[in-house]
Amino acid sequence: LNAMADDINLWQKSTLNSIVQKGVLTVGLEPGYMPFEMKDKQGNIIGFDVDIANEMAKAMGVKLQLVPTAWDGIIAGLLTGKYDIIISGMTITQERNLKINFANPYITVGQTILANKKHAGKKWSDLDKPEYTIVTKIGVTGEIATRKMFKKAKIRTFETEADAAQEVLNGNADGMVYDKPYNAIFFAEKGADKLAHLSDELTYEPLGFAIRKGDPDFLNWLDNFLNQTKNDGTYKKIYDRWFTE
Ligand code: ARG
Repeated sequence: LNAMADDINLWQKSTLNSIVQKGVLTVGLEPGYMPFEMKDKQGNIIGFDVDIANEMAKAMGVKLQLVPTAWDGIIAGLLTGKYDIIISGMTITQERNLKINFANPYITVGQTILANKKHAGKKWSDLDKPEYTIVTKIGVTGEIATRKMFKKAKIRTFETEADAAQEVLNGNADGMVYDKPYNAIFFAEKGADKLAHLSDELTYEPLGFAIRKGDPDFLNWLDNFLNQTKNDGTYKKIYDRWFTE
């Protein structure tokens, strides 16, 4: 009887079983990080992560429910069970990994600098001067990299990547440190005569799906899902939809 109770306990702890039982996969994400998750003109959340989440739900045979969540509370939301998984362009850092588990990386990016046009051709270290202002988003790896690397420049942080990028576009800041895919798209859309993309990657950042600790069933499913989609053409089809370079 005890053994049976233990079995039932284990079964209940598997997020995967609860997803299948309720017939819905809930995904926490913060729209605003192009091309991973952003809102279209009608307010729908779209992007690379959304398409992957859809594929994931399809493979589980369940519906998908997106749970938009501020970056600030995105890990807390996972830990308190507000959603089953975070798919939000999250970098696998050793610090975050103390609190949550990550499936194998689904893509790798790095920090780059979206700069004023006058800084075109410069290196990041040329911008580390007291007369320059570097902006980034609060609580992301861009902030960590900025504080680690920029010792002389002024640093200002913003709630959203859009607000930070706008400061550079306005000429109120010299550069924004953020994930390369975002900077590349912002530069392509609005940069032509005002911005430069210093596109050498300053960091190595594998991005991963995050789940609660102690759930090997779910982790195993996710890694096998990734392996399958990366090798059967599904991943490439989704990737090509959102990444041009
Ligand atoms: N990769 C960066 C990090 O993990 C930024 C991710 C921001 N994601 C988002 N959906 N806003 O810190």
